[in-house]
Amino acid sequence: MGRLAGKVAIVTGAGTGIGQAIAKRLSSEGARVLIDYVGGPEGARETKRAIEQAGGEAEIVAGDVSKMEDVRAIVDTAWNRFGSADVLVNNAGIEHKSDFWDTTEEEYDRVMAVNLRGAFFLSQAFVRRLRAEKKPGRIVNISSVHEDMVFPGFSTYCCSKGGMRMMMRNLAMELGPLGITVNNVAPGAIITPINKALLEDKPKLNALLNNIPLGRLGTPEDVAGVVAFLVSDDAAYVTGSTFIVDGGLMRNYKEQ
Ligand code: BGC
Repeated sequence: MGRLAGKVAIVTGAGTGIGQAIAKRLSSEGARVLIDYVGGPEGARETKRAIEQAGGEAEIVAGDVSKMEDVRAIVDTAWNRFGSADVLVNNAGIEHKSDFWDTTEEEYDRVMAVNLRGAFFLSQAFVRRLRAEKKPGRIVNISSVHEDMVFPGFSTYCCSKGGMRMMMRNLAMELGPLGITVNNVAPGAIITPINKALLEDKPKLNALLNNIPLGRLGTPEDVAGVVAFLVSDDAAYVTGSTFIVDGGLMRNYKEQ
């Protein structure tokens, strides 16, 4: 049995990209997984099928983390279906490109509502259950290198991810006494649908690759491995930290 045998993990945005890889990876290490998705169910079904084909167990829930009733439904589904949960991965996220001076209230609200407010209140709903049951737990937020690094044209995204960084630090303090660890995983440029425009723009892509010391984009699996570590017993004493998974992008500097 794997490191996560007997555990139940909730993964938001698990019908595609990084979330899908995380769901599969946690399952491969023994966890039962609640696959949250928004939009079409095809991706979530694909995640579930892959998990079951590999001998794992998963359930699907449709839930928009920006809506409070959906947040409650996600947690309720985990407890109804699996009896409890141990791990929450706040992965669901969106980004919107616009110059600062053109950004609308709607665009700002939407990005913040999914990326930050969603993670905040889903964590709250999860923690309330754990606290009532006096159970320890793990929260991992998928933030971004842009929780720290600038990204011109994406100020709403940067605000949300910067907020996620402070949320993680604060919750690590507040939830430590409950035995709940809270950490962030900060991916760099990963091959996922969120990066579609970049992946299709060869000159931009090449310029970016030139800034990545490991010389390639990341894969969703590169991120999933770090999440699996953080929710396993191997990371029992780890809380309040961000783990950067970016091939060196953030630490790169060269004169040319
Ligand atoms: C963003 C991508 C971007 C990458 C590196 C990610 O958080 O979602 O659009 O390419 O950071 O800048």
